[in-house]
Amino acid sequence: MKTAFITGVTGQDGSYLSEFLLEKGYEVHGMIRRSSVDYRERIAHLEGGKNFHLHYGDMSDSMGLVSLFNCIRPDEVYNLAAQSHVQVSFDAPEYTADVDATGVLRILEAVRQSGLAKSCRIYQASTSELFGRVEEVPQSETTPFHPYSPYAVAKQYAYWIIKEYREAYGMFACNGILFNHESERRGETFVTRKITLAAARIAQGKQEKLYLGNLSSLRDWGYAKDYVECMWLILQNEKPDDFVIATGEQHSVREFCVLAFRCVGIELEFVGKGMEEKGVDKSTGKVLIEVSPDFYRPTDVVNLLGNPAKAKRELGWNPTKTSFLNLVRRMVDHDMQKVAEERTCW
Ligand code: GDD
Repeated sequence: MKTAFITGVTGQDGSYLSEFLLEKGYEVHGMIRRSSVDYRERIAHLEGGKNFHLHYGDMSDSMGLVSLFNCIRPDEVYNLAAQSHVQVSFDAPEYTADVDATGVLRILEAVRQSGLAKSCRIYQASTSELFGRVEEVPQSETTPFHPYSPYAVAKQYAYWIIKEYREAYGMFACNGILFNHESERRGETFVTRKITLAAARIAQGKQEKLYLGNLSSLRDWGYAKDYVECMWLILQNEKPDDFVIATGEQHSVREFCVLAFRCVGIELEFVGKGMEEKGVDKSTGKVLIEVSPDFYRPTDVVNLLGNPAKAKRELGWNPTKTSFLNLVRRMVDHDMQKVAEERTCW
């Protein structure tokens, strides 16, 4: 039985990856942070399972990480822990650098110091944000990086330190350069989930309006559950390497809104430009979406489109298992039910 260690186990990807690895017969260990609020909702159904174990730890605590590696002695580590919100990284840049950049170095050193450098395979959650102010479209493994937020700059350090330890110490350390991946488990402040929840609440008369930032931003959105399979495939490969994981299809935030609202029976039409642009219900003329400067970033990444050819060719991964329309539908259906069960507090 193989042993996997997942940092960031309580997140969207951590929960799907845990399910995936448990199904493959792994013993799964996850690292969680102590918090006064309960944030284990996504893994609650796995807790108490014979092969699923949680440990307290933190990406900023190197001694804690070393003792976790000594005790778990994993065959594979999936480093998914991060301050993962790009906009928040402008407000908390130092914390973001500590967790997202130095934290990765701490993981690599913990692997080495526990004597696992030759046996433990390491997956690092790299990101399409590395391409940032893009230098070419679509982006592949050979596209130059141009990080465009404190988050992306921290992730660039992480990307290179993984490569450095691979080359310097022969470690099986890999980067999965994942483009945006969404699901019904996505955090509620990321744009897709914010939209699907709002569409559900507006359709059920529980919310008046949705305020968004840059509607023209373009993303390559995939389904998170499909992407965790690829994380695993990267570590099963013959040699350690870095891969772009994307669908190869691009949509704007505006298009995401139109589709999500269509799924709840509302036909939207966008009128106006820039900060004055509004999403209007075609049948009633009611304004449902407005633009707010609060959701604009000092520098925004606006043209992400990935080329997954290498992952398809070398890992046999299918990037379009879940279509964009099915992804949106799945998220909206989930949120319609969730909102219907919510108590309304006026
Ligand atoms: N969050 C948010 N909220 N984004 C908005 C909004 C809004 O109200 N309005 C427009 N946007 C735009 C953002 O400016 C950005 O261009 C785009 O929608 C997507 O934003 P997010 O959903 O917050 O995701 P992200 O692309 O910044 O980052 C996510 O994907 C990366 C790539 O996989 C995060 O999951 C990162 O951790 C990840 O690395």
